[in-house]
Amino acid sequence: MTLVVFPFRHDDLAVFERSIAVASSHPAVTRVLCVGDQPPHQSLIAAATRAAGGGATVEVVCQERIGELRPGKGDAVLTGIRRFVEEGTEHRLHFYDADIRTLSPRWVDVAERALDDGADVAKHFFHRAATDAQITWHVTKPGAAMLWPESPVPDVRQPLGGELALTRGAAETLWASPQVRRRSDWGIDTVLTVEMLRTHLAVDEVFVPDGKEHGYYESLADLRIMLVECIDALQGVAHLDLGVERRGSVDPEEGVPEAIRATVAFDAELTRGLIDRPLPAASRALVEAHPALLPDRVEAWDDDRWARALRMLLDGFRLGDPAWEEVAFRAWAARVLYHTTVNVPLGYERAMAALDAAVDGARRGPR
Ligand code: DGY
Repeated sequence: MTLVVFPFRHDDLAVFERSIAVASSHPAVTRVLCVGDQPPHQSLIAAATRAAGGGATVEVVCQERIGELRPGKGDAVLTGIRRFVEEGTEHRLHFYDADIRTLSPRWVDVAERALDDGADVAKHFFHRAATDAQITWHVTKPGAAMLWPESPVPDVRQPLGGELALTRGAAETLWASPQVRRRSDWGIDTVLTVEMLRTHLAVDEVFVPDGKEHGYYESLADLRIMLVECIDALQGVAHLDLGVERRGSVDPEEGVPEAIRATVAFDAELTRGLIDRPLPAASRALVEAHPALLPDRVEAWDDDRWARALRMLLDGFRLGDPAWEEVAFRAWAARVLYHTTVNVPLGYERAMAALDAAVDGARRGPR
């Protein structure tokens, strides 16, 4: 008996019905819960009901206000966990982002199999474009490497991934975490990943060869809110003591699909235009006090420079302060442009190896 939850936004319904059809037709799935950011219209409920296949019931609800930060994806995820833990009778809870164009029964199968084999959590991973996952690669993984160099957190393939499956026990453990419970925004995935490892749940990382075809970005500005909330999420758990042992396994990977190799995830020229503009006065004062964050040529943002900047962000960044948010965005965007113009032209494998090497370097801290 499995509950599948799709957190979704009302401005992003392109593949909504398809996702419901895939999940509700799976033999293990008894209930599908679509948790939106607004109260659902009748037409949306009708579309969801139409899409339902198999024996699963399908429900569309508005996310509850549970966390303490900006009401965003975290509240949708928390709504799913709360309903499962407090009201549901299912044994397992799966989450999938609602915008996965390549969602198939296989996503559910690989996770169910890992839980059958004894995992507490099955966390999906898949190949991503060399210019995609740029918060993961430049903030979450190296940030975790600086905060907990001995822990397994920096090695988690997709710490920001929204696709995972939990046993009832794992869901209860995560629901009991104050860090998880307050995180109503984009920081939810970071905090869930840290908490599942801190509480010694057995986390199996399960590979999905088809990958996650999803919407990409116009410029990096599309990721600005996610970026600042993910920095804040790391800051919020930085004090936690993480062990060095990890329970669980990681699936072997298969080859990288050509479509992923060819994908360019954002428009570099548009992004360059955003960071070439003069800094607002409040941000200027801030970078003068924190020189690692000073604007610089894109070519200057190598691993060492970015490690120094990220360390400073982890220590001083303030979510909701426009001067800090502007400085964080510009430094990160410059770092992503460095990767895009220096590493990516070397080819997919070398670009990804450079990202891995930067995470390893962050374990040793800025020079
Ligand atoms: C990430 O960095 O993983 C986010 O999904 C944005 O691409």
